[in-house]
Amino acid sequence: MAGGGDRRVVGTLHLLLVVAALPLVIQGVSRGAADWTQEKNYHKPAILNSSSLWQVAEGTSIFEMWKNDLQPLLIERYPGSPGSYAARQHIMKRIQRLQADWVLEVDTFLSQTPYGYRSFSNIISTLNPTAKRHLVLACHYDSKYFPHWGNRVFVGATDSAVPCAMMLELARALDKRLLSLKNVSDSRPDLSLQLIFFDGEEAFLHWSPQDSLYGSRHLASKMASTPHPPGARNTNQLHGMDLLVLLDLIGALNPTFLNFFPNSARWFVRLQTIEYYKRNFYLNLRDLSLIQDDHIPFLRKGVPVLHLISSPFPEVWHTMDDDEENLDETTIDNLNKIIQVFVLEYLHL
Ligand SMILES: *[C@@H]1O[C@H](CO)[C@@H](O)[C@H](O)[C@H]1NC(C)=O
Ligand SMILES: *[C@@H]1O[C@H](CO)[C@@H](O)[C@H](O)[C@H]1NC(C)=O
Ligand SMILES: [Zn+2]
Repeated sequence: MAGGGDRRVVGTLHLLLVVAALPLVIQGVSRGAADWTQEKNYHKPAILNSSSLWQVAEGTSIFEMWKNDLQPLLIERYPGSPGSYAARQHIMKRIQRLQADWVLEVDTFLSQTPYGYRSFSNIISTLNPTAKRHLVLACHYDSKYFPHWGNRVFVGATDSAVPCAMMLELARALDKRLLSLKNVSDSRPDLSLQLIFFDGEEAFLHWSPQDSLYGSRHLASKMASTPHPPGARNTNQLHGMDLLVLLDLIGALNPTFLNFFPNSARWFVRLQTIEYYKRNFYLNLRDLSLIQDDHIPFLRKGVPVLHLISSPFPEVWHTMDDDEENLDETTIDNLNKIIQVFVLEYLHL
């Protein structure tokens, strides 16, 4: 995660939502493509009523997330490290045990780094891979490499163990409802869900186009050259991404989150209309150019992006204090509910 300016500590954090699309690029990508690639532009959420919102709030458990998803990730896990392997096994194990029919793929590749060739592995978990369209949630599971400091290691709690744990908790809490996505019949939209856990978001040394975003750069190119649906001639996997929702730097105490639910859930959902995307694209162009993150390689290739990140960055950003002690349960619990509602509404579940 690199920012152009906001690295100083500022009083209250607020959440920056960047909804972005590059209209020119999208037109380029879509030329000659099938009509279905336009469907995301007209997609409307199915708004949940208050009793359904209450059910979502009841169905998610910050306690379970903390113990079962988050704590095992709070280890040193820079690319190629033993912790990276353990984190990967953990993520896959948590997904494999669910009822919904997740198809797991590990995208392993070598890349030149300031320390020579290193191995990286993105994890892609997809429901119904042959569905034309997918809503995509993403986080990075690598931690930034820092030399040990006394007996302390950098565990990147907000950066980005918490976002990854939130995605695992979402898959658990919504498991039964996601199970129904398995059956795409004529009466249902050909739309499903994908989770991406990027490796190598962080720079090994100094942030640069070559030393950062290893996993997302690799996966964006790979998806751009993979036909989708399987066998298609002029559409690829990037056409199948309705919206990439990237979660990063989440979990620090954030007062503006405290009463976020359910009002903000509705607000969040309103972002889905195409009119809103367009408005935000222009409003937030400046923010976009400042924040380098895993969405960039996809954004450049025309994928619509929702960047959910604390701005300014958490006070503990890239310090040894980005650990469990400095996380705020209530903030994370509220965001879990908001994002789960967002996914259910987007997928009409
Ligand atoms: C809320 O929505 C659910 C699911 O669509 C429905 O079963 C329920 O009857 C609705 N409740 C109210 C109070 O409208
Ligand atoms: C899929 O859904 C359709 C319509 O709801 C139903 O008729 C069919 O039996 C379902 N198929 C499976 C395998 O569940
Ligand atoms: Zn970082």
